[in-house]
Amino acid sequence: MRRIMLVAGARPNFMKVAPLMRELRPHPDFEVRLIHTGQHFSPEMSDLFFRDLGLPEPDLNLEVGGGSHARQTAEIMVRFEQVLENDRPDLVCVVGDVNSTVACALVAKKLGMLLAHIEAGLRSFDRGMPEEINRLATDALTDLFFTTEESGTMNLLREGVPPEKIYFVGNLMIDSLRHHLDAARRSGILDELGLGLQDYILVTLHRPSNVDEPQVLRRLWWVLSKIAVEIPVIFPIHPRTRARLENLQLTAVAGMRLLPPLGYLDFLQLMSSAKAVLTDSGGIQEETTALGVPCLTLRENTERPVTLSLGTNRLVGANPENILSAWREIRSRPAISPTPSVPLWDGRAAARVREALQGFFNRDDTADRHYAAAGGQVGK
Ligand code: UD1
Repeated sequence: MRRIMLVAGARPNFMKVAPLMRELRPHPDFEVRLIHTGQHFSPEMSDLFFRDLGLPEPDLNLEVGGGSHARQTAEIMVRFEQVLENDRPDLVCVVGDVNSTVACALVAKKLGMLLAHIEAGLRSFDRGMPEEINRLATDALTDLFFTTEESGTMNLLREGVPPEKIYFVGNLMIDSLRHHLDAARRSGILDELGLGLQDYILVTLHRPSNVDEPQVLRRLWWVLSKIAVEIPVIFPIHPRTRARLENLQLTAVAGMRLLPPLGYLDFLQLMSSAKAVLTDSGGIQEETTALGVPCLTLRENTERPVTLSLGTNRLVGANPENILSAWREIRSRPAISPTPSVPLWDGRAAARVREALQGFFNRDDTADRHYAAAGGQVGK
């Protein structure tokens, strides 16, 4: 029996830990404890996701709350150190690229523990993004690297990570999507908002580079107002963005619906039925790819290049002309576009993580060979 401590802290983490909890917790080889750092704390950013994803209550919530990057990261480290001193697991597993990820990775390694990183190796090559710093620092410390797409594996190899430490398992976020899609389709949100299939666009914005700079946010607001003349714009607003909009006194224009942050099922349903999604999120680029829904990413780069090459994603930055012309190109397309097939985004990533961990802990060559034959591991 191996003891695993699984860490989640912010909204995009919860979709990644849910399939792992389902896979590992009932398994006799593992005892899993779920730690919530409390980086995200509002009911609509956290509790709603636990409910929608069927996640059990965390074993412990560190309740760190908001704050500057330094304060938040430091507070997570201090509290997590205490946890690990009281309860020394065989493995600490962190996911994604948020402050909780890097904070807990640092603490685990300073205490000499084995560290796994889910969604390792993604790189935007833009060190102006706090998440890129978190990815680089976490991967500099990680022992077991689980990658979602080929670029992640290639980046790690280029950075000198030994191939036998890299496990290409696919995408846990897409495990959640496939598991919950039927329930999402029954969510009722389309009726509630009076929307039909592909007769609206869905928008999310929360990157500091887009919302913290008044000029950029004003420009993006202007573009959204233009699009809202042509098609309803549905915009669930992140707390960071809401604060910035209020400061600038930017309010909804005709055709624009501003909503509070939505739960996982409602949001998945809105995404899957949208004519297009405009976003600066990382995960939504992947989810729209898996759903075959056109996505315009309001950033200059992406750490998830498979969404560009195989998917429906396109980088448009924050330039109004680019965004408008990309939107008009999508508007003129036929209603149904083919859904791309991305390697190992098949809903079985958590099972591959479990197999890899069993292989690792048992040092069982049979399990490793079987896993490699399934295309899940490089270098063995
Ligand atoms: C964080 C992650 C980002 C991720 C995003 C998803 C880092 C560095 N950033 O950014 O990678 O894409 O989450 O949402 O880890 N707030 C609330 N309630 C909450 C959470 C936040 O009101 O539950 C407020 C905070 O007080 C703060 C603002 O929203 O004023 C921004 O939150 P913060 O956690 O600093 O960063 P995010 O923008 O959410």
